Amino acid sequence: MSGHPLRQPRRLRRTAVLRELVRETTLQASDLVMPIFLVPGQFQRRPIGSMPGICQMSADVAASAVREWWDLGIRAVILFGLPPFKDAHGSGADDPEGVVQQAIPVLKAAAPQMLVIADVCLCEYTDHGHCGLIEGETVLNAPTVERLAASAVSYARAGADMVAPSDMMDGRVGAIRRSLDEAGFDHVPIMSYAVKYASAFYGPFREAAESAPSFGDRKTYQMDPANAREAFIEAALDEAEGADILMVKPALPYLDILARLRERTALPLAAYHVSGEYAMIKAAAAHGWVDEARIVLESLTAIRRAGADLIITYCAVDAARYLRESAGT
Ligand code: PBG
Repeated sequence: MSGHPLRQPRRLRRTAVLRELVRETTLQASDLVMPIFLVPGQFQRRPIGSMPGICQMSADVAASAVREWWDLGIRAVILFGLPPFKDAHGSGADDPEGVVQQAIPVLKAAAPQMLVIADVCLCEYTDHGHCGLIEGETVLNAPTVERLAASAVSYARAGADMVAPSDMMDGRVGAIRRSLDEAGFDHVPIMSYAVKYASAFYGPFREAAESAPSFGDRKTYQMDPANAREAFIEAALDEAEGADILMVKPALPYLDILARLRERTALPLAAYHVSGEYAMIKAAAAHGWVDEARIVLESLTAIRRAGADLIITYCAVDAARYLRESAGT
């Protein structure tokens, strides 16, 4: 009978209980990682214009935030540091008294079980804003890798639970792994920003981290957005060098890459839902053009569906609240 097709997918959509029974993808607060921008000093809470709701914070302020976030179900944070001064070598990155190194024990004291991930890169610490050491206008690979490995060890020494290199130099995962192991941190995992594109979606982050390059761009180290096969080369190299988790960044514009990488590796995958993706949601929501809670949960669910085990997102705390509210109804 034409009115009664044998297969009626709508049968399983009839009630909320049925829909939940056959739902393929879940989203929980414990899947999310909240970024923190750390500044020196005390009582510092500086809003970031292009990222409404996100602030640069001193360690004491961040400590009360993480305590609150733990109670909302957030289980991991990733730290970015804004040093008191910048120089050509990015000295602040591996300074034992650096802004991230000093903050880690403060955060750990406030929320002892919160997983603290240290982002490893030089761009917040160099006066030229590039992710590595430079000679003229060239970003050097080998000397940068050495600085990154030293930074990773110094975060581990300060108590970081995981390190996450975001610089896109070649061979850095292997070098960081060797340095961590030699320094007695063989238990500290590496989450590699393996597949990181040279993206306009990082715009607001560069305001937040005060890390815009003073000349040129990042196209000689970050990936060309037009490339997909190259992502699998990057991912395979990092896996071979000992990465424990592979990341794709940005998230929503690169779900094809994430889904294809999911088929090619057994490692856990992370996706970074970046500052520009956050800013676009916030701007549209501020105009009343979209329903913010629904857009956030749908976006994060889509990233999970494409294959992400964990998502780094500035929406983490908001999403944890929305998830709690929807569970209560
Ligand atoms: C630094 C770094 C960047 C981001 C994370 N780590 C910026 C960049 O590469 O320019 C971007 C994060 C975001 O946009 O939210 N290496």
